[in-house]
Amino acid sequence: MKNTFNNGLSRRSFLAAAGAAAGVAAVPAWAAPSLPLRQFDLAAAPGSTHLVDSDGTKTKVWSYNGRVPGPEIRIRQGERLRVAVSNGLAEETTIHWHGLRVPHAMDGVPHLTQKPIAPGETFVYEFDTPDAGTYWYHPHQRSFEQVGRGLYGPLIIEEPNPPQVDRDVTWVLDDWRLLKDAQISEDFGNRHDMSHAGRIGNTVTVNGRITDIFEAMAGERIRLRLINAANARIFGLEFDGHTPWVIAYDGQPVDPHQVTGRLDIGPAMRIDLILDLTGSPGDAFAVRDTFYSRLKYRLLNVVYGPKRLRDKPMREVAALPDNTMPEPNLASAERHHIAFGGGMMGGMSMAKMGGRDVGMMEMMRNGKAWTVNGVAATGHVMDPILTLARNRSYILALDNQTAWYHPIHLHGHSFRVISRNGEPTRHKEWQDTVLMAPREQVEIAFVADNPGGWMFHCHILEHQAGGMMGVIQVT
Ligand code: C2O
Ligand code: CU
Repeated sequence: MKNTFNNGLSRRSFLAAAGAAAGVAAVPAWAAPSLPLRQFDLAAAPGSTHLVDSDGTKTKVWSYNGRVPGPEIRIRQGERLRVAVSNGLAEETTIHWHGLRVPHAMDGVPHLTQKPIAPGETFVYEFDTPDAGTYWYHPHQRSFEQVGRGLYGPLIIEEPNPPQVDRDVTWVLDDWRLLKDAQISEDFGNRHDMSHAGRIGNTVTVNGRITDIFEAMAGERIRLRLINAANARIFGLEFDGHTPWVIAYDGQPVDPHQVTGRLDIGPAMRIDLILDLTGSPGDAFAVRDTFYSRLKYRLLNVVYGPKRLRDKPMREVAALPDNTMPEPNLASAERHHIAFGGGMMGGMSMAKMGGRDVGMMEMMRNGKAWTVNGVAATGHVMDPILTLARNRSYILALDNQTAWYHPIHLHGHSFRVISRNGEPTRHKEWQDTVLMAPREQVEIAFVADNPGGWMFHCHILEHQAGGMMGVIQVT
């Protein structure tokens, strides 16, 4: 059970060595600095942790290296990441590096990009990390249960010159369905969750623990990285007494803008905030989640200690440097329509499942409830819904024909969200997971520059398992 990073020859030590040899005319070709390699080990296994309180009952979970969330992987932009994943579960697993633009073979999708890791086996993932930002990792095998039992962790890629803050804080948010004895309810993938809003739980944790207090110091500037690791819960956060700035969505820089009102973050999405602690010593302010009108609650209290760090809070918020995604050419982009259907009250009657036309009742009997372009997925391997030409620009018009929210995720790429219900978006934000409201129409644009077959699915994990999943092929 360890989380190591055995740096090989890091760039820094290489440069130091080169400096020590100053006077030598040229760096020999064999010493051309390769990117530093950072190594980690993740062991997926059953375990137990204190979700509910620190000395009381432990909750049985599945976790990485015995903790929930799994260990934070934190590296610097441009480094190469190698992670050896060993499977101590009684079933197959994989890891998907959510939001990272990795080569296809490293994407962690069972049967589509790799053979799943069998119990007792180890698989080594290795790839470069061209983009900075806030990401996370999780299994892609039966994820509605594996993620739901605690298999997930944060993955932070630091900018070479990160913005100046006093603290860099990550809140991995999760939502659990616990029974009275603090154990996880076993009703994973039940038909009701599958065909409605997904597995909404009854216990919300921040970094794997029910959290009452976030300790603050007057004048502090915090970079707050929010990660929604829940199966299905959408968080709608309100920061009483504070006005945070958004600096990134899904790890990707966005024009800094202040949040007035609720900050919605769907499953799998991330938001980076600059949070200036503008209160005074002794103050306390709630962070509330008001997304579901009948399930409002206080996530935690921001509680100010007696000290003040600086008199005048920092005022300017600078934009993060751009990442490396190519800019889609909207004028020449090819446009495709993708319809999302199914669920209760959606009005869907027929769908294709396993190549056959079936009615909603038969779908439900087979544990399916949702479709992409009329097809209910029965596994990760299927005919592509689209085949895109490499390095061409595309606009996908996503059409939510259902009565439910869906956070729609594309693997292998980030895309710009360019319009909602026909209205251009203000920030043309880069995302990898876009939250669509019931009946909403959203246009996204990107350059299909990563070859392979990429999952395109709802990240409400019960909807994904229930058929809302497709493959976009880039050739
Ligand atoms: Cu976060 Cu297809 O995954
Ligand atoms: Cu969905």
